[in-house]
Amino acid sequence: MIYSGVVDRNAAPLSIGEHEIWPPVVLAPMSGVTNRTLRALYKPFGFGLTVTEFVSSNALQYGAKRTMEMIDQHGVENPVSTQLWGNDPALMAHAAKVVRECGADIVDINFGCPAPKVTKTEGGSACLRDVDRCERIMKAVVDAVDCPVTMKMRLGWTESDLAYLEVGKRAESVGIRALTLHARTAKQFYRGTADWSHIAELKASVGIPVIGNGDLNEPHEAIRRMRESGVDGIMLGRAVLGNPWLVEGIRDLLEGRSVRPMPDAPERLRFAIVHYRTMVDEWGESRAVPQMRKHLGYYLKGFEGASQLRERLMRTETAAETLGIVEATIDRLEATAVVAA
Ligand SMILES: Cc1cc2nc3c(=O)[nH]c(=O)nc-3n(C[C@H](O)[C@H](O)[C@H](O)COP(=O)(O)O)c2cc1C
Repeated sequence: MIYSGVVDRNAAPLSIGEHEIWPPVVLAPMSGVTNRTLRALYKPFGFGLTVTEFVSSNALQYGAKRTMEMIDQHGVENPVSTQLWGNDPALMAHAAKVVRECGADIVDINFGCPAPKVTKTEGGSACLRDVDRCERIMKAVVDAVDCPVTMKMRLGWTESDLAYLEVGKRAESVGIRALTLHARTAKQFYRGTADWSHIAELKASVGIPVIGNGDLNEPHEAIRRMRESGVDGIMLGRAVLGNPWLVEGIRDLLEGRSVRPMPDAPERLRFAIVHYRTMVDEWGESRAVPQMRKHLGYYLKGFEGASQLRERLMRTETAAETLGIVEATIDRLEATAVVAA
């Protein structure tokens, strides 16, 4: 494998059922963030696979427009995965059939969400407190669909109640085709750091592919984590928001190249404009403008004067006003660069 700038290509594609996924790098499901537009725009940077935000199996029974939008895979390069959450095996099986019919190549089960609105119904990471139920859910979903089923989990509910090894074994035994582990407990939420030694332990204890997740922020670090833990793939979440170039760097290393330099600030903002305009085209201005505020915040990370700019952008109400500010920022940055040269 690859290390600190000196690279060779030994990494294998990530095999999930019949899908040979290259690069073995997955865009993390992120609720309220990884909508279809973002998945389609970010995939070409070097993600082998994208996953929808999690969708409630209960809500899917009713087929509401907003729920159906969440599972829409139209225009996203294959293979694509759709993630479901729920506490009831029969409802999860039904939901799996629906998302499969709506274009999912892979169905992913969420045993990781720590949000109280989910865990109070025994969904998401709360399932990890009852490994028998986890097994029933996984088996029901595997039996319901003719495509690979994967599962994403945390370490367990608390530090003293780590379930991932047992749930991982049960997953393999019922026919789950790959596991993703976000190496934090539910009670940790996002505090502390992901403990990759558990990811290595899971990899050593099952025969199905394991995808490691948590705190990958830099290409060499990601490759080091991959190598040391022996995982088959990695998943990236927060660090790629506003910075899809991170994945380009990881792909460079995996394909035997040096990491290309990060694009300069104006180029990054030009991509932010593409993202913004695509959102407006696809979702309409009234939905795109509030949603894109947080994304512009991500794109501005590390910019000089970013906090004032972010504050101004938080108050804009129209796409034209917002884009005007971003375009003026690009002009200013370019003028400064000319003077500096
Ligand atoms: C805003 C947000 C929403 C998330 N939504 C989901 C989700 O819908 N399903 C899921 O499995 N994980 C979800 N996660 C967890 C991420 O997929 C990932 O496991 C976590 O952020 C750790 O990876 P990272 O350190 O690369 O961000 C979410 C995380 C964030 C920050």
